[in-house]
Amino acid sequence: MPRRVPAPAVEQDGGTGKGEPLDLSAVAQIVGERCRSDADLIPVLQQVQAHYGYLPEVVVAEIARLSSIPASRIFGVITFYAQFTTLPRGRHTVCVCQGTACHVRGGHEVLRSVEKALSLVPGETTADFDFSLETVACLGAFRSHR
Ligand code: FES
Repeated sequence: MPRRVPAPAVEQDGGTGKGEPLDLSAVAQIVGERCRSDADLIPVLQQVQAHYGYLPEVVVAEIARLSSIPASRIFGVITFYAQFTTLPRGRHTVCVCQGTACHVRGGHEVLRSVEKALSLVPGETTADFDFSLETVACLGAFRSHR
């Protein structure tokens, strides 16, 4: 007989550690206004992320409940596109290019310096939520998609 594995608990504070539940009323408003089909998912995620700053599990669960789109499909979209994040980000995002052209000009040393200055590795955010650190494959290409 297969063993039943309980679903992981959803952090109602969106993982902020503040202990206060997130106000999900904005999700209902955005999904209600914009989500008519699966094709509307990306604009809905963009608008919800613009409101909360990121897409925590509790928010994704609410989008899934309201839109009847499976949460697994929503997470699939979120993890496919670099523009979406499930973690709270800092007020400032420091992007360090690790593309080939920058690599030959010392991009690796720039990254080490920023890591040391902020005490972060790429993908992390400072405890005060002032800075997040990211790497990009080509900052020129990255900027043209925003
Ligand atoms: S490789 Fe760094 S900007 Fe393109």
